[in-house]
Amino acid sequence: MDELRVNLADRGYPIVIGPGLIRQEALLKRGLGSGIAAVVTSDRIAPLYLKTVTDTLARGGAQVLEIVVPDGEQAKNWETLNLVYDALLANRCDRKTTIVALGGGVIGDLAGFAAATYQRGVPFIQVPTTLLALVDSSVGGKTAINHPLGKNMIGAFYQPQLVLADTDTLSTLPDREYRSGLGEVVKYGFIYDYAFLEWLEANMDALLARDPAALTHAIRRSCEIKAGIVAQDERETGIRAWLNLGHTFGHAIETGLGYGEWLHGEAVAAGMVAAAELSRLQGNLSVADVARVRRLIKRAGLPTVSPDLGQARYFDLMRIDKKAEGGAIRYVLLKRLGEAYVAPVPDAQVAPALAAAVSN
Ligand code: NAD
Ligand code: GLY
Repeated sequence: MDELRVNLADRGYPIVIGPGLIRQEALLKRGLGSGIAAVVTSDRIAPLYLKTVTDTLARGGAQVLEIVVPDGEQAKNWETLNLVYDALLANRCDRKTTIVALGGGVIGDLAGFAAATYQRGVPFIQVPTTLLALVDSSVGGKTAINHPLGKNMIGAFYQPQLVLADTDTLSTLPDREYRSGLGEVVKYGFIYDYAFLEWLEANMDALLARDPAALTHAIRRSCEIKAGIVAQDERETGIRAWLNLGHTFGHAIETGLGYGEWLHGEAVAAGMVAAAELSRLQGNLSVADVARVRRLIKRAGLPTVSPDLGQARYFDLMRIDKKAEGGAIRYVLLKRLGEAYVAPVPDAQVAPALAAAVSN
């Protein structure tokens, strides 16, 4: 078992990583308040892990409420959020209630936003069950739901009390969802850590085979990088935006195709290729660097070609981005492999990168 910390003064919290953690009541208790433990999960995850988690909470002495909502990105919306509020209110949950988010990034973001807003904020614990959630979304306190016009547009920064990353849960994760998580893992190498990028190039086959040692290293290093960045810039006024490499293009893909059509990590993967191409056109990366980005993403079994939504539609969608300022789209670009930066780029300069992204 490994333990890291997100250092945010009085809002800091541990990330515990390892196998079998959801069975350990002493661990779960570390994040609990004195009231009801309301476990929010989806109808797809509930049959796999809900009973284990509620039994563990009950062994730890908690009174447990189960809240099971519809699964998937298309359900990350107001309607589903309201189901959570309905259940909390119907069961007279007070401000001492702890919300336990059991699931992937969708449940983590949705339940986290419920925790941020229910009675102006109640404690919450992240129990991630997808690779994407273990390496990215459960850490850092970004919570949100989607709006039909834009991804993650309604949300709050709200840190959990504890992240309990049980690596055993990945044993039931389908390959497509697993690969989607690898998209966020390789992102850390591209934006921040060239040595980790080289390690990923050398170990991608082991990761695809879910080799426990390789997987543990990838999860730990990803969490370390993310925790370090969040500790420097919790509310994304600077370096935290680097974590959005590929996301301006990726969110446009997700919204443009309809939520859930492409998985988040798939859209981000194709978006990172587009961002690498744009970085080359801005004079930073070489042709060989872009080929390396494309090759690693392809080896992870992720898409490297973006869907052709049409340039006008891409720009419309990309203008609804949280990094946009005064109508100008700001992109996360690579200065070199292992270091990112953020800059506005005029549409005319982005157009050739988009053209390459949909056709290569
Ligand atoms: P997801 O939560 O939809 O999970 C993918 C699918 O896997 C779902 O159908 C889910 O039911 C299923 N599943 C989950 N755990 C399982 C398990 N152990 N075994 C079998 N099936 C399982 O998708 P995701 O990829 O985890 O998360 C994507 C979301 O995360 C997006 O909405 C994205 O915006 C968000 N996100 C948030 C942050 C953040 O910092 N808050 C960062 C990255 C992504
Ligand atoms: N996934 C982007 C962030 O947490 O900032």
